[in-house]
Amino acid sequence: MIKSLRGTKDILPDDISTWQYIEAAGRDIFNIYGYKEIRTPIIEEAGLFIRSIGDATDIVQKEMYVFSDSVGRNIALRPEATASIVRAYIENSLFQAGGVTKLFYIGPMFRSERPQQGRQRQFYQTGLEAIGSDNPFIDVEVIALAAKFLERLGIKKFHIKLNSLGCQKDKIRVIEKHKESFKPHFEKLCETCKARFDKNVLRIFDCKEDSCKVVAENVKAESALCSECAEHFEKVKAGLDAISIQYTVDNKIVRGLDYYTKTVFEITQESLGAKDAICAGGRYNNLVKEMGGKDTPAIGFAFGMERLILALIGVAGHKSQVLGLDVFVAVTGEALYNEAFKLLNSLRMAGISSEIDYDAKSLKAQMRKAEKLGARFVVILGEEEFKSNKVVLKDMEKHNQEEIQLDKLIAELSSRPGLVLGSTTKGGK
Ligand code: HAM
Repeated sequence: MIKSLRGTKDILPDDISTWQYIEAAGRDIFNIYGYKEIRTPIIEEAGLFIRSIGDATDIVQKEMYVFSDSVGRNIALRPEATASIVRAYIENSLFQAGGVTKLFYIGPMFRSERPQQGRQRQFYQTGLEAIGSDNPFIDVEVIALAAKFLERLGIKKFHIKLNSLGCQKDKIRVIEKHKESFKPHFEKLCETCKARFDKNVLRIFDCKEDSCKVVAENVKAESALCSECAEHFEKVKAGLDAISIQYTVDNKIVRGLDYYTKTVFEITQESLGAKDAICAGGRYNNLVKEMGGKDTPAIGFAFGMERLILALIGVAGHKSQVLGLDVFVAVTGEALYNEAFKLLNSLRMAGISSEIDYDAKSLKAQMRKAEKLGARFVVILGEEEFKSNKVVLKDMEKHNQEEIQLDKLIAELSSRPGLVLGSTTKGGK
């Protein structure tokens, strides 16, 4: 039997309400802050990610799924969405609307990493990008929004770590400072990190080798911001303080993708352990220009949805809720099947979720099935009652039943509270 690929997972109907709950909460809060949904393709030219994420990064060097299509183009399964959104922003002239373009997304990403709890090869992100302003208040908005999203989901005990990498010139200085700090420990680094030392020293912070992790933890990391970037960072911090968003500054937050400038941040959450971020993001003020657009500053973040679910279950005690059923139509004899099917059709046309047993078993078996499906009501079509145009309406919650005129059934059902219809986005705790 062919099985699913390692690092990929089926999301089964029993778990889907949790996903829908997160997606609906995200859509709600992103809309409140003025972000509009965008859906970009899952496949892109590999060059888009190589240029934006950086060719010395783990994502590009080791994790990206790249294949050659029938005409020899290098195609990648997207490892993240920021580069695609910047491409879409330029290609569709979204800048023409003026001001800040605010976009959010939900969808699968692909990275060939070693699978473990909260780390998959196909994983889902929900994130957003605000393109068009360098105003520090946008940084505050984006970081605050990430925190408010977690709060809305009932996820507590999260920790925002903040840093500024500064502008392009500062970044060069930051890189030099880090080189000085790593130099005395060079021999303790793995072979890949020895190469990273020259190529892109910041990537040593991403290394998963124990020896490199120890070195990275112990080197000192000083800030090296120019006065303009330092002032920008101060304003971001003051803005967060003003709306009581708690954070700590950590100079070792350098992020695993090359496009970042100025503000960067990561959010960790207790149930996932300190290492793995539930959300990460930052400014990428040069990316739009580097991708062929105008000089346009931007900032964004992405949440890992599998990690949101782990936190939701671990901290907020969320339970997946299987959506019930309004009505199960039970039939006592083969002869009434046609009538039952007509009734089923009218119920569905009236927006009442309904089901029937196509295997036509005994009434007892049909009642068991109704219970299994979580039916709120069972409508029984019995031969005797049907002769006088009546059906039996059984309330499965209150455990009572009554005869009802067939032509009054839909009106009667619609007047009863507790029908599941329309509750798909409520989720459950
Ligand atoms: P990232 O740090 O690569 O940033 O990923 C963001 C989040 O996606 C991580 O914090 C984590 O929660 C989740 N994630 C990453 N890899 C995996 C995986 N293999 N399995 C499960 N979850 C994972 C970005 O992707 C940037 N595009 C974020 C951004 C948006 N920056 C600016 N705008």
